[in-house]
Amino acid sequence: MTVREILKMGDARLLRVAQPISDFDSDELHLLVSDMLDTMAAANGAGLAAPQIGVDLQLVVFGSAARNPRYPDRPLVPRTVLINPTITPLDEAQEVDWEGCLSVPGLRGAVPRYSRIRYTGFDQYGDPIDRTVDGFHARVVQHECDHLLGKLYPMRMRDFAQFGFTEVLFPEISLAEDD
Ligand code: NI
Repeated sequence: MTVREILKMGDARLLRVAQPISDFDSDELHLLVSDMLDTMAAANGAGLAAPQIGVDLQLVVFGSAARNPRYPDRPLVPRTVLINPTITPLDEAQEVDWEGCLSVPGLRGAVPRYSRIRYTGFDQYGDPIDRTVDGFHARVVQHECDHLLGKLYPMRMRDFAQFGFTEVLFPEISLAEDD
């Protein structure tokens, strides 16, 4: 198990469109997934995309077995390994809510996202994933999959009056390891 370095905004590798994975259930892929889960857990992240550790592949991990201390009031999202994802909004409805990103440390911004989506893809064994979700789960998936398109959440924001430092916006969140 290895905790990998997380790239920060400004690194050009975060702006690439990631490549699809064609070789499932390989030792190399399992090692990468293991490193990503370790890295996400060490940073208390809600999710992590492969480009954030400099790997140019369509792979994201998100969710947890227990509640995330960075988002204590948020519903539980199941731990998921998602490869070669596609996202389809179920309708035009969007909602705005706060997001953070391990590549944008110390900041939070209010970001519009589709409220209800269907997402498909594969896990690391090549087994298909097909889910219809809403709310925070839908938000996390859209945020993580955006990393595969070279998009960081500030690039999705519409109101920069709702962008600031976590410690100022949410003084009650005071984790030493918080992004
Ligand atoms: Ni992120």
